[in-house]
Order: sequence, then structure tokens, then C-alpha cells
Amino acid sequence: VNIADALRATRSRLVGVADHPSFEAELLVASVLQTERARLFARLKDPLREPARALLNRLVEQRRSGCPLSLLRGWKHFRNLTLFVSRGVFIPRYETEVLVEAALQSGSSGIALDLCTGSGPLALSLADEGSFSEVFATDISEGALSLASRNALYNNISNVSFFRGDLFDALPPGSPRFDTIVSNPPYIPTDDLDGLPRSVSDFEPRAALDGGDDGLDVIRRIIQSAPEYMRAGSALIVEIAPFQSPAVTALLRRSGFLDVRVFPDSSMQDRCVRALYPGPGTARGSFA
Ligand SMILES: C[S@@+](CC[C@H](N)C(=O)[O-])C[C@H]1O[C@@H](n2cnc3c(N)ncnc32)[C@H](O)[C@@H]1O
Repeated sequence: VNIADALRATRSRLVGVADHPSFEAELLVASVLQTERARLFARLKDPLREPARALLNRLVEQRRSGCPLSLLRGWKHFRNLTLFVSRGVFIPRYETEVLVEAALQSGSSGIALDLCTGSGPLALSLADEGSFSEVFATDISEGALSLASRNALYNNISNVSFFRGDLFDALPPGSPRFDTIVSNPPYIPTDDLDGLPRSVSDFEPRAALDGGDDGLDVIRRIIQSAPEYMRAGSALIVEIAPFQSPAVTALLRRSGFLDVRVFPDSSMQDRCVRALYPGPGTARGSFA
């Protein structure tokens, strides 16, 4: 069996499983050979030996049973970063990248906070691409925070501090007010969790997804508490499911936030809402 044979066989076993069987076959073969996809094509006639063959076979079986490709490879790109992923921690999605754009457009200096950081894509991108002096990041999951710290080290990012706990309660006493707050929290309505594809329901932690009856439990708590942690003019940016944009826009306006704006992702789906905090005494903080 040479590399060309392995690519052909892998591709045909991925038809009907992967959206892009040829591309995924190339990535998996490259991964067992510990090389880059682009380098495969000069080596098509080289033999694929053990243990790479057995490993490829195992990875293809796992992929066929719904395991996300990035979990098999062990990492995923997010903007400029290479992030380790692992079972039990939410895998960053490309649609989340728009939150970084929205945050940087709203100001990129001072101190930023990423609530529900997971493996750290937002906190680390803000530290990498913005000019923030410091970035704080919180999550309720110990596993997520240890992966996020590893990702900070690997990407050479040193000005992010991680804290474990429930939303803002994780912050240490005496924390500063933040200039930017971002979050991609759980936002899927509980009843929709059963209808998710197996690649999500079997491989992502439920606590990373479940947003309660209408999906907005965590987002509502973030909007309610955020003013205590913001300065006048600070931006709050949250990820949403597209159908939630009217409800979240209304919640933010009702709570006194200004300049509420919805940003679409690259598939033109409403993906995040950005709002500015006008300062103490102006936000009404009323919640229905
Ligand atoms: C949808 S994942 C997003 C992770 C990361 N921000 C990303 O975009 O890849 C939501 C994250 O929220 C965390 N989480 C859930 N409830 C939380 C809470 N009450 N306080 C803090 N983090 C929470 C989960 O552990 C999970 O890592």
C-alpha cells in the first residue's frame, strides 16, 4: 500500500460521513505521517508502513462513528492560533471568529474579559490581535481551563489569566472593570439538544451547549451582571444562534445598552450581538 492507495481507500470510506471526503482523507493521512497535507503529493508512491497504517485505520473508524476531525487530529486553527482540542472540552467553531472582529472594531485597548472561555479561542485571539494590556478568562470547567492554559503557552501568549467559576463569580476580588467583555456561552435550547448531529451530541460536553428553555439562560445572566464590571463606553459581545438575534437585541436595549448591533458570520447568519454600556446611572437594568 502506498500513499496514493491509502488516500483513495480513505476517501471512499469517508463518503457519506464527511462533507469533504478527499480533503479529510488528505488531512488524516498527513496526520498519521506527521506531515503537512501539501507535502503528501510529492510522496504519493512512498509506502505507507505500520504503525501508520493501523493508526490510519483506527482514525477512519472513529471518524465514521461521528468523531469530529479536529478531535482526531488533536488540534484546530482559530484565526492566527493553533489550538489543542480534547474530548470533554468544546471544540472552537469558525463562526466564533466574527466575535473577535466585532470586539476589535469596538476598541482593542485596556483590559478584556472572556466569559466561558473553553479552550481559550476568544481570550487568546484578543490577546494576540488586540492591544489589550491584560485579558481575563473564566470557565466553570477545570478541564477547559487547563487546555486553555496549554493553548496560551503553545501560542506564546502570556498576558491572559484564567479563573475557574460561574461567570463573573470566578473573578478574583478587586478585579478591574473591563473595557471589552466577550462570551460564547452555552445557548442551545434544552429541547433542541436531542436533535443535534451525533458529532456534536456524542462528543461535546452538554454543559457547554445547554442554554435552558429558550437557550438564553446564561446570556440573560451575563447581560444582567455585566454593567457591574464595565466602564462607560465598554463593549459587550455575545455569540448567539441566528434565531436569537431579536430576543438578545431587545434584552440589551431594555437593559439600557446602546448601539446594539448584530454581526453575521461568514455564512451570513446572525452570529453575535455587540452593545455598548453607557455608564452607571444610565443603564436601567430591568429584566422581564
Ligand atoms: C459553547 S462553549 C464555548 C467555549 C469557547 N468560548 C469557544 O468558543 O470555543 C461554552 C463554555 O461555557 C462554559 N460554561 C458553561 N456554563 C458556565 C458558567 N455558568 N460559568 C462559566 N462557564 C460556563 C463551558 O464549560 C464551555 O467551556
